[in-house]
Amino acid sequence: MKKLNILVLGSGGREHAFCWKLAQSKMTDRLFVAPGNAGTKALATNLDIGINDFDALKNAVIQNNIDLVVVGPEDPLVNGIHDFFLNNDKLNKIPVIGPQKLGATLEGSKEFAKDFMSRHNIPTAQYGSFTPEKIQDGYAFLEQMKPPYVLKADGLAAGKGVLIMNDLDNAKKELSNMLLNKKFGKASSKVVIEEFLSGIELSCFVLTDGKNHVTLPMAKDYKRIGEGDTGLNTGGMGAVSPVPFADQKFYNVIQKNIVEPTIEGLKKDNIPYVGFLFIGLIRVEDTPYVIEYNVRMGDPETQVVLPRIKNDLAEMLYATAVGKLDEVELLVEKKSATTVVAVSRGYPEAYEKGKIINGLPSSTSSTVFQAGTTNNEGEILTNGGRVIAVTSLGDDHKKALKNSYNLLYKISFEGMYYRKDIGFDL
Ligand code: AMP
Ligand code: GLY
Repeated sequence: MKKLNILVLGSGGREHAFCWKLAQSKMTDRLFVAPGNAGTKALATNLDIGINDFDALKNAVIQNNIDLVVVGPEDPLVNGIHDFFLNNDKLNKIPVIGPQKLGATLEGSKEFAKDFMSRHNIPTAQYGSFTPEKIQDGYAFLEQMKPPYVLKADGLAAGKGVLIMNDLDNAKKELSNMLLNKKFGKASSKVVIEEFLSGIELSCFVLTDGKNHVTLPMAKDYKRIGEGDTGLNTGGMGAVSPVPFADQKFYNVIQKNIVEPTIEGLKKDNIPYVGFLFIGLIRVEDTPYVIEYNVRMGDPETQVVLPRIKNDLAEMLYATAVGKLDEVELLVEKKSATTVVAVSRGYPEAYEKGKIINGLPSSTSSTVFQAGTTNNEGEILTNGGRVIAVTSLGDDHKKALKNSYNLLYKISFEGMYYRKDIGFDL
């Protein structure tokens, strides 16, 4: 069997989960991660290279005979890392899992994504897109809408670019702040205004080689910092897979109305796409609508999706790279997986770092995926907002959650916070 040297890009819990799964693969030879964290270091070789330092990544790829690159976060994809590989004669035979810049625009520009959905009749909220020159049209568009008003910065804004307001005057003021005062910098030089959809959200993940696709287990993420889904938005405080309300009938509708037209739309538009596609959905009554596309896996959803995939991940990714995903039969673990994220005091605003993490288990039936962690003289210290995600399996999500919480009780660091109500709404 062909053996692969694999490089994973990123440093979060998602990337630790990728390394954890790839390390179990018969097809993995040597595993590298850039830059990684204290958790990945136990499974792979951490390379001290930033995810957007393409030249340094190129050198590392050549030096370490890398056969496959798996991109975790969206940033390098939107910045064109895949194109960089294709345009370099030393790198262009090394497959990258993650779309080229054009495909990554599905996440990099809300307007591009909405126009794509509209062109391919993919259900999504009604919208208009406005530039500073067209601000008067933007005001008029808001006036003919019903509250709440949804304003989205077109570009990447570190998850902060969406504002939802009840008051029309506030909405107009924010539109002007975004367009004229560059509230989110370049990201808000265009603003998408959307109809508000009311419902429950879930995340759908697809792996595609550009021709074939596999729909991975769905998950539900808990984005708000506070219990009962209150307070500021975060990267995600916990996740559950499968999603109990996404039954077979609902899944079939998602396939037919959303996943298939999305993959076909990419083909029709000549948008090459090799990699993961994360479709953020909202269920309004019984109908799924697309809230957004992301061109990567979710974090912390990956920490519940990968543990439910029984296939060899390196084999699946290699099949993706060579256009043979049709030969892969997805095998899914029936049990539920849950993850609960522990964060640093202050997160998602300015947060503390450098706190010693105590009680990390050496072996348990649950898995601790590390995110913002670093090694220091034999100790593991906090080094980010989201610090760890504790994943467990169980016969249902309640049993799995119990396992996650039982392990979390034993782990501690100064200022540690986690939501005690993951799964409360299921
Ligand atoms: P996005 O970055 O587009 O995923 O938006 C961030 C969050 O804002 C989503 O996860 C939803 O909770 C919320 N949101 C975005 N668009 C809408 C919409 N049209 N209606 C209701 N909520 C929305
Ligand atoms: N958990 C949501 C995301 O990865 O964007």
